[in-house]
Amino acid sequence: MSNVVVVYQTRHGATLKYAKWISEALHSDLYHLSDVHANILEKYTTIIYGGALYASGIMGSKKISNYFSGVHDKNLIVFTVGLSNPKTTDYQEIINKNFNDQLQQAISFFHFRGAIDYKKLNIIHRIMMFALKSKIKKSKNASPETSLFLETYGKQIDFTEKESINPLIIHAQHFI
Ligand SMILES: Cc1cc2nc3c(=O)[nH]c(=O)nc-3n(C[C@H](O)[C@H](O)[C@H](O)COP(=O)(O)O)c2cc1C
Repeated sequence: MSNVVVVYQTRHGATLKYAKWISEALHSDLYHLSDVHANILEKYTTIIYGGALYASGIMGSKKISNYFSGVHDKNLIVFTVGLSNPKTTDYQEIINKNFNDQLQQAISFFHFRGAIDYKKLNIIHRIMMFALKSKIKKSKNASPETSLFLETYGKQIDFTEKESINPLIIHAQHFI
């Protein structure tokens, strides 16, 4: 059995794609968040959690925080998957919203770029994206990020990139 586990929570699959790539690279076990509980996770020394980003929320962060709060002497890694470009995005506000100060000290964070297919969004998410488009259009503060959002609005776009996991893999390998 590996001493590394990758746990993920996804809505449309991009986070699963990264979780599989990471799990394959580290020869680790892989679980959906709903299939794990403390008894399973306690067997591992390195726990890597991946959550998709929705409206600045990291999916599953509450459940994984509860578990992380109860463990000591484990290597904890969290990766997020969202449409924002990690090279130009400051994730501190998102991290503050999803993990308390104590957990932030214990976790190493990584951020990857996901995908979207507007046709597959549920009605609530369609409305949220429409509202964001309207807000951006009214705003005078255009940025490369907002321009890209407007260009890709309504379409299918995939920014997932296998090589982007390399820094996480190098980091995790220190513990194996
Ligand atoms: C309603 C909605 C809100 C979103 N909010 C964010 C966000 O706050 N930050 C971000 O980078 N991406 C955001 N995204 C993009 C998703 O994170 C992206 O599609 C990601 O690949 C989803 O992962 P999944 O396929 O694993 O569910 C949002 C998408 C939708 C539909």
